[in-house]
Amino acid sequence: LAVHLVSFLFSKLQEDPTKKVDRFLHAMRLHDDQLRDISARFLSEMKKGLSAQSSAAATVKMLPTHVRSTPDGSEKGQFLTLDFGGSVFKVLHVKVREEMGIRRGEVEMEEKTYPIPKGLLEGKGSELFDHVSESLKDFLQEKNISLEKKHPLAFTFSFPCEQSSLSQGLLLSWSKNVRARGVLGKDVVQALREAIDRTGGMNVEVLAMVNDTVATMMTCGFEDRRCEVGLIVGTGTNACYMEELRHIDLVEGDEGRMCVNTDWGAFGDDGALKDVITEYDREVDAASNNAGRQIFEKMVSGMYLGELVRLVVLKMARLGLLFDGHVSDALKTKGKITTAHVAAMEETKNGLKNTRSILMGLNLTPSQNDCVAVQHVGTIVSFRSSNLVAAGLAAILTQIQRNRNLRTFRVSVGVDGTVYKTHPQYPKRLHKVLKRLLPECRVRFILSNSGSSKGAALVTAVAQRLASQKQK
Ligand code: GLC
Repeated sequence: LAVHLVSFLFSKLQEDPTKKVDRFLHAMRLHDDQLRDISARFLSEMKKGLSAQSSAAATVKMLPTHVRSTPDGSEKGQFLTLDFGGSVFKVLHVKVREEMGIRRGEVEMEEKTYPIPKGLLEGKGSELFDHVSESLKDFLQEKNISLEKKHPLAFTFSFPCEQSSLSQGLLLSWSKNVRARGVLGKDVVQALREAIDRTGGMNVEVLAMVNDTVATMMTCGFEDRRCEVGLIVGTGTNACYMEELRHIDLVEGDEGRMCVNTDWGAFGDDGALKDVITEYDREVDAASNNAGRQIFEKMVSGMYLGELVRLVVLKMARLGLLFDGHVSDALKTKGKITTAHVAAMEETKNGLKNTRSILMGLNLTPSQNDCVAVQHVGTIVSFRSSNLVAAGLAAILTQIQRNRNLRTFRVSVGVDGTVYKTHPQYPKRLHKVLKRLLPECRVRFILSNSGSSKGAALVTAVAQRLASQKQK
């Protein structure tokens, strides 16, 4: 009866279909005051993560990366890099100004992507690392890279690690679609070295391991010295930034700066986002392979946005607010609406047409109003994501601003990730909201291409430059 009553009342209203969606999803439409409040909570969580007394209990881990400087453009060298973040795995050969003809700030790269069978992502960790090192060997052979001299190798590993140096890192937790067994708490660099030894026949030395956010910041920092923040909005989400060493309790020394990987996807795991979480977020979380963890990430990143849209559309259809109450089996199936679909729904010219064909692909027969309404669901879900990222970034930038005692300042943010790169409305929404939250800060966003691979090489190059400066 209640279902019929709701649908009767709504149909009586005979109005712009976006209005009913606005009302239905009012809990997902965060206004600026809420965002400021979330940003303040975020900042206090960051402080908790930085302090020795409270860091163990902090959800935002604030992991020291041992990257102490962004590039100054004088770096050089040839490096192999591995890039593993879950969905894809790449091997690269990166040349940083090694040869005549490569200009200052330029990098030459050869790369190959290797698929990772799904079974390996959920199987034995050692088998996953064997696959990684066998792919590396294949790459060396295919590209005819000589075995005579030792090749420095840098590893982009996009999961939270506790690092006591650039070339060591204990895996704290898996996220996204990976949960290989036997790696938690282990040194990932060591695991890679062992796999390389098992594979045999390679002459490489693993010199550094970095998170993808750090690599992205470094890549953009190579072109723009103001780049002191790295941001990923892709399958997962995360950010890093240059913090004052005196604020990082877990690392000795007070002079200078170090990049901190916030690993912000876990924000909210202690209930800090309780008041903004909706029933759809709870459902996504419950159906994930890491329930109760990565709460912020599940509201923001590409692995989950499509699913959030599907759950909202399903609920509205069941209440009779869409498709005359008709629900198809496809609409009831997890994963049938993807983040790529959500991006297509919001294309400027063809968005509505795309929405119709996506819904028809789910065996639904949408009216024009249904299409407009579903498109608007997509808008609200992805807008919330950019709002939350803006709130997180505002916290990071506020911290930098206070560290340097500045009233106004300019900073660049290096960005990577499929959501930011492929959702047609995402970047401009993020930029606009951030500007409203932090009007005194002039932020330049730099899109990083292959940032998470190139950057690992740059981290190693910078470390070598710093070491040689010390020696002099
Ligand atoms: C997840 C990982 C984090 C990574 C991010 C983006 O949140 O925990 O380390 O940076 O995904 O790939």
